[in-house]
Amino acid sequence: MTDFLSHIDSQRFGFNIARIDDVSLLLTKGFISLLREKDIRLVITRTGIENLASVNLLADRGFRIMDIQSVWRSTHRHGPDNPDKIKDLSIGFATAADVPAFREIAAGSFEGYGHYFADPRLDRTRCREIYPDWAARTLTDPNAADEVIVARLDGKTAGFLSLKIHEKHGNRFAACVMGAVAEAFRGRHIFQAILGGALKWQQQHRLGWTQYNALTGNIPVSRALASCGFRPAEACVTLHGWTDL
Ligand SMILES: CC(C)(COP(=O)(O)OP(=O)(O)OC[C@H]1O[C@@H](n2cnc3c(N)ncnc32)[C@H](O)[C@@H]1OP(=O)(O)O)[C@@H](O)C(=O)NCCC(=O)NCCS
Repeated sequence: MTDFLSHIDSQRFGFNIARIDDVSLLLTKGFISLLREKDIRLVITRTGIENLASVNLLADRGFRIMDIQSVWRSTHRHGPDNPDKIKDLSIGFATAADVPAFREIAAGSFEGYGHYFADPRLDRTRCREIYPDWAARTLTDPNAADEVIVARLDGKTAGFLSLKIHEKHGNRFAACVMGAVAEAFRGRHIFQAILGGALKWQQQHRLGWTQYNALTGNIPVSRALASCGFRPAEACVTLHGWTDL
């Protein structure tokens, strides 16, 4: 059972939280009781949206849908450099010196966002720490990200996108870990320019494609992805199940 523990989530919220994506295991009779006996209080699971029958069976057992994500992919080798021709916009690679700026952008960008916030039983203060911590980790922990694209303008950090190389069936690809543009800089297609930087990086590393998991209801990011030639490829759903229900 300890194999299923999400250490990062358990530490943050102060009780045992498991991450189990094997839906048939979760639906096995007696399995949730077993988790409860092992003091696991919450299970987080993610599955393809095509598995609606399983999603409904999980719902019958008390699981609740906490987000719906679209997986966008692009095999393009380049993207827009600076669509709005903003003077002095620079796109480059971030360093650990960007940690405070990233924390600030993430704190301002992800209030109420994602499956943790969607679960009313999870402590709000702890939920608020997730994205700034994660943004900082993508700059300092190679397990979190391999590279981070940053946009700078007027001497300020305008936005960023963290990237991690993954391998699937022998194909290497870039997964976007998290991205945001500070509120004051939005609506000027700076995120498109950042995505352009990511596609260039994908090409430099000879990766097969870049993919981005975005909440299906996040229209600004979906529009930016579509404008850069990304296309929706899959969709998935995240559920939370409390073992005391
Ligand atoms: C998503 C985000 C990065 C976009 O940054 P940005 O630099 O403003 O993006 P762009 O200007 O390149 O493109 C945004 C697109 O969404 C549109 N848009 C912005 N707000 C919108 C809204 N409320 N409703 C509909 N469309 C909207 C813009 O008009 C633009 O579309 P267009 O190219 O057709 O004109 C930024 O909004 C953000 O940081 N949001 C919070 C964090 C987040 O959602 N991150 C992504 C998920 S990890």
